[in-house]
Amino acid sequence: MTGRLIAVEGGEGSGKSTQARLLAEALGAVFTREPGGTPLGEQIRELLLATSGEAPCARAEALLMAAARAQHVDRVVAPALADGLDVVTDRYLHSSLAYQGAGRELGIDTVHALSTFAVDGVLPDLVVLLDVDAATTAARLDRALDRIEQAGEDFHARVVSAYRSFAEADPERWLVVDGSGAVDEVAQRLQAAVSARLA
Ligand code: TYD
Repeated sequence: MTGRLIAVEGGEGSGKSTQARLLAEALGAVFTREPGGTPLGEQIRELLLATSGEAPCARAEALLMAAARAQHVDRVVAPALADGLDVVTDRYLHSSLAYQGAGRELGIDTVHALSTFAVDGVLPDLVVLLDVDAATTAARLDRALDRIEQAGEDFHARVVSAYRSFAEADPERWLVVDGSGAVDEVAQRLQAAVSARLA
């Protein structure tokens, strides 16, 4: 039996990375992340998020995200699923649809085509959207920001609204979880919702 792929998605400051890790621990799943998850992918991540040096144009950003994703699927995600292991990934293709498709305004369909090529048929069984309000995001982002975090309010509003519309359009695949509150509280809420859905 193949394992199940669970993607955790959300805008900046949603607490997604912490929660994805805790969810993987609770499920006994492989934990991984994008962009990254492989040595090559982590190098691509550094290129993408650096605040110095030449910034990639929007199309280059989308292609680099897709390249990191293709490597991640090939080396980590697909082999683990084939071994029957569940996988929790901190971001997956919907990050590209939201950030490059909506945020950078490359168009959802264009970026979807790129991501489809990258994932080679490996789609998430469940996508968790950790949803937080703008005030919580602002409070949590009171630190040095990477290149994409610095993209501006309008960009991030487009990202959040794209995520919400993906979740609304496909409620069988998506689960929206309120990300406000203390880490433990959100972790419990998230684990309960995911377990109920996967049961
Ligand atoms: P992440 O490590 O999840 O950052 P954070 O935990 O601070 O949200 O993701 C790194 C950044 O990369 C984040 O700003 C979102 C962005 N990103 C894209 O723009 N497109 C993608 O396809 C992926 C996977 C991430």
